[in-house]
Amino acid sequence: MRTLPFTVLFLASSLLAQAKGSVDFQKQILPIFEARCVECHSTAHAGPDGKLKKPKGGVVLDSKEGITGKKGLIVAKNADTSALYVAITLPADDEDRMPPEKKGDPLSKEQAALIKTWIDEGAAFGSWTGKKAEPIAAAKPNDKDGKVGKVSGKPKVDAIVRLQEGVKPIAPATLATFAEGPFTVVSVGDESALLSVSCRGNNDTVDDAMLARLAPIASHICELDLSRTRVSDAGCKEIGQMVRLVNLDLRQTAVGNQGVAALATCKELRSLNLFGTKVGDYGLAALATLKNLEQLYVWQTEVTAAAIVRLRDGIPGLRVVMGPDLPEPMPEGAGGQRRRR
Ligand code: HEC
Repeated sequence: MRTLPFTVLFLASSLLAQAKGSVDFQKQILPIFEARCVECHSTAHAGPDGKLKKPKGGVVLDSKEGITGKKGLIVAKNADTSALYVAITLPADDEDRMPPEKKGDPLSKEQAALIKTWIDEGAAFGSWTGKKAEPIAAAKPNDKDGKVGKVSGKPKVDAIVRLQEGVKPIAPATLATFAEGPFTVVSVGDESALLSVSCRGNNDTVDDAMLARLAPIASHICELDLSRTRVSDAGCKEIGQMVRLVNLDLRQTAVGNQGVAALATCKELRSLNLFGTKVGDYGLAALATLKNLEQLYVWQTEVTAAAIVRLRDGIPGLRVVMGPDLPEPMPEGAGGQRRRR
């Protein structure tokens, strides 16, 4: 009987440990990052030569903000879809394997397993926050490789400038037919013949059949926001006709693999938002022909990290966001230069 209190104590403390997660980030995970990763993945800082040392690939592993932030490296409670875990478990000869082959052996099985458990338990950091980014004069907020700095759902302005060359404006009479809704059609800029189309306030009435109404202006549509509409795979055929489409938002629609495959003809696409759709790896593979794609949002889809790695092999500039890091919905009057037509 004497031992009972100890047993109870033991049980209580192990329950507590479970509630908090059995892996301690600061004691067990951080040392791995420090030994094998931070050399290349440290918060931007001035090196010994006074030059700015930037984290490789924009990946920062010495601050909580870096690990949890914009890059979407970790999906809490789901190691298998976390880019960080995928990167350390790729085959040793895969060029995306971390740490890179030239830096020695892969992490040990035990180290990888610890990281997996830590993520699967919810990726808690305790009180650790890590390095603070210091303002460094040479640091530019928007790195030109687009990997550092603020995420923007906006396509590159020069892409739009080039696309509108020689494009004649749609006749005002045709544009007037959109006045009744459900689509809001505006010019992307004062001088531009290209159009931005959204469903402002009518999202729940817009379905596949209604997309046919966009056919007369299809070749002029540069931005299309169909988020939270009733559009599904069938409607994507119409979208496939939009050869100047740069920015497409399909978030939270019923679009799936077949619909996404129909977008392979939209060669100018720079930003594609598939958050909360039914897209999986098959649909993602069909996007490999979209060499201009810069941003792809796949949070809450069935897409796996392995499929993303494959897609990125073919589209070097692509940034894939797997976490809850979404662009603002396309604003009407963005940049103060849009005008209603
Ligand atoms: C010798 C330098 C070096 C070391 C050490 C290193 N990395 Fe990297 N890492 C890179 C480079 C370079 C890239 C960018 C690759 C690219 O953009 O194609 C990168 C990219 C990444 C990415 C992004 C991959 C993606 O899916 O976008 C992750 C995650 C990552 N590293 C994690 C790690 C982890 C975890 C470690 C330690 C176990 C580590 N790295 C060690 C150089 C390094």
